Amino acid sequence: MKRKVLVTGSTQGIGKAIAAAFVKEGDEVTVHCSKDIEKAERIRKEIGAAHAVVADLLQWQKIGELYQKTGPVDCLIINASVQYKQTWENITDDAIDKQIDINIKSTLKLMQTYYPAMKQNRFGRIVMIGSVNQHRRHSELALYSATKCADMSLVKNIAKQVAPFGVTVNNISPGAIVTPRNECVYNNEAQRKEVESLIPMGRFGIPEDCVGAVLLLCGRGGDYITGADIAVDGGMSL
Ligand SMILES: NC(=O)c1ccc[n+]([C@@H]2O[C@H](COP(=O)([O-])OP(=O)(O)OC[C@H]3O[C@@H](n4cnc5c(N)ncnc54)[C@H](OP(=O)(O)O)[C@@H]3O)[C@@H](O)[C@H]2O)c1
Repeated sequence: MKRKVLVTGSTQGIGKAIAAAFVKEGDEVTVHCSKDIEKAERIRKEIGAAHAVVADLLQWQKIGELYQKTGPVDCLIINASVQYKQTWENITDDAIDKQIDINIKSTLKLMQTYYPAMKQNRFGRIVMIGSVNQHRRHSELALYSATKCADMSLVKNIAKQVAPFGVTVNNISPGAIVTPRNECVYNNEAQRKEVESLIPMGRFGIPEDCVGAVLLLCGRGGDYITGADIAVDGGMSL
């Protein structure tokens, strides 16, 4: 059955790979990014998705306007986030606001906005893209990690409450994945080796490594899985 799917932040990196995978499954996919509709349209065409939308999730109070554009969806993949690498003593006010607004407030607002139609349809799949930093400490990612832990708490709490209505809510926690966000680390040999030394499988992941867990959670195989966290990290969290 063709599903309607929204992947937030799907113009690059992990979100783009997930959106492309749903397209290959034959689903009706909406590509999303913050502001640049030409970028969203370009990626929509490249992967063969059905729709492209922009909505700045910093403006989390306006997520209703995003819903007006997409309508209800069967699968909501909450992927977009921001990350500022700063020691905890030096996290700027701007970085505090943006990480909390986009990573936590917009997550909750997206779920609040898209859930009622899922409840009415007695079917919905919500997948949160978390992070290995839920499980590991990082000297420059204290707040980012806290936002991902907060998201996991939302996932578990809400999963329990919406389960009777056919809606599942799960999290995947990727490890170090090569995307535009961390290409500079990957392209610096010393930094790359330092990160690789933390990964039992000995390599960075690629965005496509994150696809299988999301398709599992949204497909028939995920029907009885809710409130779960699937690590996709080459063992980095162990
Ligand atoms: N890469 C990793 O190693 C890694 C590891 C663990 C977890 N993750 C998580 O996986 C997810 C994807 O990571 P990634 O590395 O693929 O990210 P990325 O390359 O930084 O891409 C982020 C996406 O989110 C969108 N976005 C950013 N700010 C936005 C805003 N204010 N409003 C709407 N959309 C916005 C971006 O669109 P614009 O171009 O419009 O900004 C882009 O499409 C994130 O939640 C991240 O925390 C990543």
